[in-house]
Amino acid sequence: MVMGETSKMPNLRKPAAACSVLSMTALATVLGCGLTVTPAKAEPTVEVLHYWTSGGESKAAGALRQDFEAAGGKWIDAPVAGGGGDAASTVLRSRVLAGDPPNAVQLKGPNIKEWAAQGKLAPLDEVAKAENWDAILPAMIRDVVTYKGHYYAVPVNIHRVNWLWVNPQVMQKAGVAIPKTWDEFNAAAEKLKAAGIVPLAHGGQPWQEAGLFEGIVLGMGGADFYKKALVELDPKALTSDTMVKVFDQLRKMRGYVDEGFAGREWNRAAAMLMNGQAAMQIMGDWEKGELTAAGKVPGKDFVCANLPGQSGYTVNADSFVMFTSANADRGAGQKLLAKLILGKKFQETFNVLKGSIPARQDMARDSFDECAVKSMDDLKAAVDSNSVVPSMAHEMAVPGAVRGAFLDVVTAYFNSGMTSQDAVKRLAEAVDLAK
Ligand code: GAL
Repeated sequence: MVMGETSKMPNLRKPAAACSVLSMTALATVLGCGLTVTPAKAEPTVEVLHYWTSGGESKAAGALRQDFEAAGGKWIDAPVAGGGGDAASTVLRSRVLAGDPPNAVQLKGPNIKEWAAQGKLAPLDEVAKAENWDAILPAMIRDVVTYKGHYYAVPVNIHRVNWLWVNPQVMQKAGVAIPKTWDEFNAAAEKLKAAGIVPLAHGGQPWQEAGLFEGIVLGMGGADFYKKALVELDPKALTSDTMVKVFDQLRKMRGYVDEGFAGREWNRAAAMLMNGQAAMQIMGDWEKGELTAAGKVPGKDFVCANLPGQSGYTVNADSFVMFTSANADRGAGQKLLAKLILGKKFQETFNVLKGSIPARQDMARDSFDECAVKSMDDLKAAVDSNSVVPSMAHEMAVPGAVRGAFLDVVTAYFNSGMTSQDAVKRLAEAVDLAK
């Protein structure tokens, strides 16, 4: 009987006692007794760091957890409250510095390449090949989740950021129509204000103010101007008359929010829209997930409309990266999670709940509502007209330090009396320093 062969009966060459008293370092003895140690089947386990903690978000995150546990996985939840993900990024950095990274992390845009370049992420090529990701992912998404030709993240969805959410009952009561231009927006807001209604539900946090800013950049300047200013960081675009006008409009928006906006979470602002306290909100379509989770019906309780001005599609795609782990259970968990996330069943269940549309492009539309279908159609039109832009507010467009420069200047402007001329000057300087 040679060592390592499978045996039904323990080899009796050595006294059974020698095999029965197994110390922690007795693996050699066990093998020497002719017993083989069949590695226990890995128990796929992942600790997941994410920031989906609002009503709609947590329902969607719950769908992912259920899917994973139904497939035999063990999910260790590591949620970080705080919409937009800035708080979660802080926790991630400290966990990595402490040498204790979570196994799966909600991450996106240039952050994926940055972490991959540091050698911290497990490549996902094996799952990608087996699941044919090359064929099912749009090129735009594939580019975001790969680095040097390897997959380092699994995309979950495609959120559209440049939406105007409207409470039709409130607008009707005040006798205002959904605005198509920024002049119409301002006129409607003045009328709503005169009627004692908060025109714009807003949460005073840098990422939310950046969302207003980038929506106005696209609406006023169009997709080419947006790319020049917020992606290529062209100093001329950043200090142009168009950018001055963008800040002028942002100043007007400051006058359309209620006095209690500072620090408010985006989903608390969504509640103002739902309860009729406010008429409109500018937010990505995780807003729809929040509204439908509260039982609101699109087209009846709320309307999803284009932002005023020029058209285009601002993309924010969530993904999960897998930080390398030597533990077999965690490695198996990461592989299982990556496989499930781009599976057809999950792509439907999750995105219906989250308010986004699927990351894979071969999905049926039947289960998706009018806002999701509009998003799918508008994305196709924007791809055809080259007016798809990456969201700067949601970490899709520029490295973290540059995004930080935008957020600092925009939120300082929104919360002070800074002039628009000053703002564009400070913006160009801050971006130049951060590059
Ligand atoms: C975005 C994220 C969305 C949504 C939103 C509000 O950055 O991509 O999934 O959660 O923040 O928290």
